[in-house]
Amino acid sequence: MATDLNDSADPGEARARTRTATGALYRQFVGPMLASDEGADAEQLSQLSLQALGQASLRRHWPLIRGALDGLGAELKRPDPRLEQSLFGCRFSNPVGLAAGFDKNGVAAGIWHQFGFGFAELGTITWHGQPGNPRPRLFRLAAERAALNRMGFNNVGAQAARRLLERQGLPAAGQRPTVLGINIGKSKQTPLELAPDDYASSLELLAPLADYAVVNVSSPNTPGLRELQEEGNLRRLVERLRRTPGCPPLLVKVAPDLEDDAIDAIARMAYQEGLAGVIAVNTSLDRLGLEQRRLTQTGRNLADEAGGLSGVPIRRRALEVLRRLRATAGPALPLIGVGGIDSAQVAWERIAAGACLIQLYTGWVYEGPELVPLILEGLGDQLSRHGLAGIGQAVGSNLPWLE
Ligand SMILES: Cc1cc2nc3c(=O)[nH]c(=O)nc-3n(C[C@H](O)[C@H](O)[C@H](O)COP(=O)(O)O)c2cc1C
Repeated sequence: MATDLNDSADPGEARARTRTATGALYRQFVGPMLASDEGADAEQLSQLSLQALGQASLRRHWPLIRGALDGLGAELKRPDPRLEQSLFGCRFSNPVGLAAGFDKNGVAAGIWHQFGFGFAELGTITWHGQPGNPRPRLFRLAAERAALNRMGFNNVGAQAARRLLERQGLPAAGQRPTVLGINIGKSKQTPLELAPDDYASSLELLAPLADYAVVNVSSPNTPGLRELQEEGNLRRLVERLRRTPGCPPLLVKVAPDLEDDAIDAIARMAYQEGLAGVIAVNTSLDRLGLEQRRLTQTGRNLADEAGGLSGVPIRRRALEVLRRLRATAGPALPLIGVGGIDSAQVAWERIAAGACLIQLYTGWVYEGPELVPLILEGLGDQLSRHGLAGIGQAVGSNLPWLE
């Protein structure tokens, strides 16, 4: 029967089922580095892996690299027609996506499908390239399977990002093996009142490369940004963006720290404006019981550190926000659930609560690439146990996880 997953940092549940060489390598070589807060620098680790993935994406047609990537895909993909969905004009081969922030500049856009993802969200990209906040700015909280980050939208800027994407020679939108979303944010140097034009410039430039676009108004690391979540501001921003030539399906990404009435206002606005969907949630400014947790790298408590919390501690709140959005907007508004998902059971719970799609970040880093096939297998298995024909029937069904 259903169990309460929301305080558990133990993802062990069905881990034993999926065993791949990639998973074993990850556990052996990367696992020990992720097992404590100290040691390998979290940002350096992800930069190193992204550099390698970026090179692989650029050269993915070279026979040797193609062979390696196809081998990876053979291990990690789980094609299953029951997991396919068409949403806001995009065909998703499965509901599991890579969340924004891992591939901020889209350097590996050509190969995310080989990790089994049904979609990948690139960005956040801002109009002006910017270095982000001073380091260290990404911290592991290993015992809690969590992270704290205050990256501050470090990215090369919309124009350079477009060049990076074009260099990869991606198939046209709609003909790709995986759906590509592009997440757009406000440049730090742009005052809040000029935000709509700043977002619109990035959107216009990147729209031809995106299957969908996301308005990020919820990062805690750009001063003032979250004020754009206020109903009037958000409505003006969305209306401006929808007038942008070639605007793809547009979604809004919200924070977990919103009051209930603010969540309701966004849900209503999204529905009235005909937005393609809402992504819930970004990282949290709330310390969610971890106020006194010491960050070993700085010696300060989390309560005194800037940045957004992600991973297991935000799971419960992410689920609450999703439920609230669903209750207010109804089943017609597509929702993407993200925050603390690190197992098939948690993924199922989010889908049953109303998410059409889910995204992974912190859980994927801790669990490794095997998490994607593990979730896909688990979802397929639950469909069988409940006698459902497709994942769409599970969305918002509130059906429990069956052992
Ligand atoms: C290091 C880091 C960087 C992130 N950068 C972004 C970003 O640029 N844009 C964004 O919308 N979300 C960003 N996020 C938030 C994630 O996309 C996701 O919403 C959040 O981490 C909750 O999911 P999780 O618990 O699975 O990590 C970032 C998260 C992390 C950990």
